[in-house]
Amino acid sequence: MRQGRISNAQRRAHVELLSVYGVPFSPAPLDLDRLFGRSAPTILEIGFGMGETTAAIAQQHPENDYLGVEVHTPGVGSLLARIAELRLGNVRVIQHDAVEVLQTMIAPAAFDGVHLFFPDPWPKKRHHKRRLIQAPFAALLASKMKAGALLHACTDWEDYARQMLEVFSAETALRNSASGYADRPATRPQTKFERRGLGLGHRVWDLVFRKA
Ligand SMILES: C[S@@+](CC[C@H](N)C(=O)[O-])C[C@H]1O[C@@H](n2cnc3c(N)ncnc32)[C@H](O)[C@@H]1O
Repeated sequence: MRQGRISNAQRRAHVELLSVYGVPFSPAPLDLDRLFGRSAPTILEIGFGMGETTAAIAQQHPENDYLGVEVHTPGVGSLLARIAELRLGNVRVIQHDAVEVLQTMIAPAAFDGVHLFFPDPWPKKRHHKRRLIQAPFAALLASKMKAGALLHACTDWEDYARQMLEVFSAETALRNSASGYADRPATRPQTKFERRGLGLGHRVWDLVFRKA
């Protein structure tokens, strides 16, 4: 995995704060109430990138808890720094592959919501098999959502949007909240990746599905 450049501030935050707000990967189910020290609606965010959106949403919704999963060290450092700066008590971070985390650390029906903003698009056809959103992943994700929980995904790649729509629509445990693509929910702040895409002239497609 290429980790890219890491700034001194991100490295410092990663070293100093991962033990405070991070959760080590462990193949044992996580007790979310114990982790956050309370029982509150918990939202999973997969691939939070630099985490500005995560921090902004968590700050706007102190009533919810947010579990962010990301593999990229500079991004993890960046979110950890932001959590400390904003003194957010409702965000925890796991630096690990989200599929393995879901498979081994998360109990069934654990989450009240899932955020999946701009997953890596893998635009080349021969790389499409690397895309996260495929049928087995949708089933795994749905199994970790409570009845009524919302799954919010978005992308700026039209054919990945179409793939997401097909895959989530085919998952029997999920119901589309819109007919086709959803309007951009007001709750989703613009992400860094999104600004880049919009700058390149891309459109954005949002999808909001509810666990049956
Ligand atoms: C295109 S970026 C989008 C980041 C952010 N959501 C945004 O909108 O700015 C996708 C992110 O997903 C992360 N990612 C990809 N596969 C992952 C996996 N299996 N588990 C956790 N994170 C993953 C990447 O490291 C990357 O930061």
